[in-house]
Amino acid sequence: MKLLRLVLILLFVALPLAASSAEKAKSIDELAKMYDVSSCKQCHPKQFEEWEKSYHAISLVGSPRTMATIASTVKDGLMKEYTKAGIKDIKDIKVEHMMICAKCHLPQLKDATDEVAQEIAQAAIDGAAGDEAAQAKLKKIGINCLICHNQKALIHKWTDGEPEANVIYGNKEGAHGDAKYKTLKKSLIMKESILCGQCHGLGPNFDLTEPTQCATLYGSYLHAYVPSGGSKTCQECHMDKGHYMPAYRDPDQAKKAVSVEVDTMGYYFLPKAGDSIPTAKVTVKMVSKAGHRIPDG
Ligand code: HEC
Ligand code: HEC
Ligand code: HEC
Ligand code: HEC
Ligand code: HEC
Repeated sequence: MKLLRLVLILLFVALPLAASSAEKAKSIDELAKMYDVSSCKQCHPKQFEEWEKSYHAISLVGSPRTMATIASTVKDGLMKEYTKAGIKDIKDIKVEHMMICAKCHLPQLKDATDEVAQEIAQAAIDGAAGDEAAQAKLKKIGINCLICHNQKALIHKWTDGEPEANVIYGNKEGAHGDAKYKTLKKSLIMKESILCGQCHGLGPNFDLTEPTQCATLYGSYLHAYVPSGGSKTCQECHMDKGHYMPAYRDPDQAKKAVSVEVDTMGYYFLPKAGDSIPTAKVTVKMVSKAGHRIPDG
């Protein structure tokens, strides 16, 4: 009886542990598989192709300034300046350490083990040094369909609960043709700026043990654009090319950034007789038409 009780207790202790570690991805490839969106392409080719060209799709690589900055965060920050982080070597890196960037650049890292955090840190260092295989590895994971249409689609978790597995959140309810994500549910924020604001930043991330500050544009949207009468959402200004969502690297979007009016008047200034100085009065009026500060980051 005693033995049985012990076995039962052991089972009780071991099961949740086993279950939670079984849920975690142990490599970049496993994380990519867990968040696989290849099935979406068949029925949503337009959204898929636009998204593939976006920086969201390669959010650990970027222009590729992101990859280089993650590499220096690891080498110069985590392994050098952050002396209290307890990191001497790549193998000491944990998910929590990489979250100072992954909070927004790869929120699904929360579903991975420390080995994945280490693999990403090493790939960013190698990728920044020119290793194409390492760059290709980082491009396997990014902000994809499931991040916006599942993980970030609900905000108030005590009110609405956690996003459900196998559900795609959009603007409608009903059955969905995908083999794994069989149900469509409505997300209250799909058309709201706050969907984007979850990553586009309010200011320093004080929730992190070592606060970082990268994107802060949602703060200026809320505190400057909206109070001065701005009424457009991020989606209204950034989704005319659908899921490509470009900023200044797209000439059409860059042109919309500022209006410039220049007014000039030339005249001669005569301080004393015979002393004529040519002068000009130039009035330049530049107005930002973006819904937030530019540039950001
Ligand atoms: C077999 C085809 C099929 C596959 C595969 C598929 N979808 Fe869909 N999806 C649809 C159809 C059809 C609708 C429209 C349903 C309706 O209008 O009632 C839809 C609707 C949606 C919507 C809601 C659009 C809205 O108006 O709010 C989203 C978001 C979405 N799909 C995302 C995805 C994602 C992400 C994947 C991959 C994980 C995916 N879909 C895979 C067929 C598919
Ligand atoms: C999960 C976090 C996350 C969410 C949600 C998110 N973004 Fe982003 N976004 C990023 C990151 C990270 C980058 C930068 C990637 C890089 O360059 O490394 C980015 C880049 C961008 C860019 C710059 C693209 C370019 O080509 O220069 C725009 C514009 C943008 N996002 C708009 C949006 C809009 C609009 C929404 C909401 C509909 C949104 N984002 C939702 C994280 C997010
Ligand atoms: C609060 C969310 C957030 C955090 C935390 C964050 N980033 Fe970002 N980052 C973004 C978003 C959103 C963008 C793109 C939009 C922009 O620049 O306004 C971006 C853009 C960048 C860019 C410019 C991309 C390019 O290619 O031009 C670099 C570089 C970058 N991030 C590196 C990092 C690094 C390294 C860390 C960790 C030390 C980090 N970020 C932490 C959200 C974040
Ligand atoms: C950065 C966030 C983000 C990502 C990543 C994202 N979506 Fe969306 N998606 C949105 C938003 C926001 C809307 C709603 C736009 C609106 O209604 O104004 C939307 C709308 C849609 C719709 C409805 C039709 C349309 O185009 O408006 C479909 C279908 C869809 N997404 C599929 C996908 C698929 C498939 C992927 C991955 C290839 C994907 N989305 C990736 C934010 C995202
Ligand atoms: C009134 C239209 C408008 C609204 C609203 C708006 N944007 Fe922009 N945004 C622009 C324009 C135009 C640019 C191009 C300016 C540039 O990047 O130089 C831009 C640039 C950006 C950039 C690149 C920033 C950089 O470093 O230059 C990001 C990222 C971005 N927007 C995200 C967002 C997000 C997220 C929201 C919602 C919180 C939003 N935008 C709301 C018009 C808008």
